[in-house]
Amino acid sequence: MTTAFVITVDGPAASGKGTLAVRLAADYGLPMLDSGLLYRAVAVSLQRAGGDLDDQDAAAAVARGLDAAALDDPAFRSRAAGEAASRVAAHPAVRAALLDLQRAFAAQPGGAVLDGRDMGTVICPQAPAKLFVTARPEVRAQRRWRQLATQGEGVSFEDVLADIGVRDARDSGRAASPMRPAPDAVLLDTSEMTIEQAADAARRIVEAARAGWVNS
Ligand code: CDP
Repeated sequence: MTTAFVITVDGPAASGKGTLAVRLAADYGLPMLDSGLLYRAVAVSLQRAGGDLDDQDAAAAVARGLDAAALDDPAFRSRAAGEAASRVAAHPAVRAALLDLQRAFAAQPGGAVLDGRDMGTVICPQAPAKLFVTARPEVRAQRRWRQLATQGEGVSFEDVLADIGVRDARDSGRAASPMRPAPDAVLLDTSEMTIEQAADAARRIVEAARAGWVNS
């Protein structure tokens, strides 16, 4: 039996993976899961309830009670929320609490696009199309700095670059589902690419995977 056509898009902060995932979802008419938003929502909800980000049990309780239909709060998109998300995301119990929801999303009959850190390694290792999107830290910091400025968050480039370094180290150094490319993921370095060039490159990677998938 062939699996549904699932595209996984993993990679570090501000690599361009979110933009590419949105484009691919539109191109292929697939629903998209922004899994980072789940961790952001857990972190912000925990903090709002007065909880401590290092309290694994409290964070897992919030994750179990997460309303996946209420993720459009702009506060989840802030710089602080990204940093807090990476702290709760290091707790194995939080990741376990969010596993079924993500796997169910991936198992939709028509397929899906999954954006995150462990989509190709843990959530849907059987996905026929896997991308790991990267870019140099300075390029990612520049992109994130611009994005935050658009959102009205004035912060220095140096601070954003430092954030990215801390987040990269935490996300790839944690024991639970560390960020890393799946063995069969195709690496896409977008450092020197415009959005259009990166979107074209991503589409070519997915087309090649789809050709193999259709013929399998
Ligand atoms: O947009 P950005 O890449 O900065 O972050 P995000 O994708 O919204 O993810 C925020 C944080 O959630 C990351 O730094 C990870 O620590 C965590 N995360 C994760 O552990 N696993 C995922 N599948 C997605 C996000």
